[in-house]
Amino acid sequence: MANKTLDDLFYDTLRDIYYAERRIVKALPKMARGAQDEKLKKAFEKHKEQTEEHIERLQEVFELLDKRPRGKTCQAIDGILDEGEEVLETYKGTPAQDAGILAAAQAVEHYEISRYGTLKTWAERLGHDKIVKILDKTLKEESQTDEALTKLATSQVNANAQDAA
Ligand SMILES: [Fe+2]
Ligand SMILES: [Fe+2]
Repeated sequence: MANKTLDDLFYDTLRDIYYAERRIVKALPKMARGAQDEKLKKAFEKHKEQTEEHIERLQEVFELLDKRPRGKTCQAIDGILDEGEEVLETYKGTPAQDAGILAAAQAVEHYEISRYGTLKTWAERLGHDKIVKILDKTLKEESQTDEALTKLATSQVNANAQDAA
C-alpha cells in the first residue's frame, strides 16, 4: 500500500481546483451572455478576469512545488456547471432566469471557497508560506464575489424574478 501523506492530498487537491478553474473560466462568458440584468452581467465579466488570475496563481503554486501544472477531473464542478447550464436552458428568457443563474454561480463560488480554504490550511501545516499567501489572495476574491452576488440577489435580482409578469 502506497504511503500517501498530506503532501499527496495537497497536490491532488491543487489539481482538482486547477481543473475546476479552467472549466469555470469557460463557463463565465456563457453566464455573462445569458444574464439579463446589467449588473449581474458585469459581475460575471469581472469574475472571469479574476478567474484568469486564479489560474495563473495556481500555475505559480505548481512551480513553487516543482510540479507540472496538471488538472485532474473534478466531478463536483462538472456537476455544478451542468446544473447551471440546465437552469439557463430551462429558464431562458423568463423572469426567473437571472435568479437561477446567480444561484448557480454562488454554488460555484462556494465550491471554490471550500477548496481554497482547505488548501490554505494544508499549506500552513506543510510550511508552504509563500503558497499560503497566494491561495489566500484567491480565497478572498472568491468570498468577495460570493458577497457581491448575495447583494445583487437581495437588492434586485430575486425581486425581479418574483414580480415580472
Ligand atoms: Fe476562482
Ligand atoms: Fe470564483
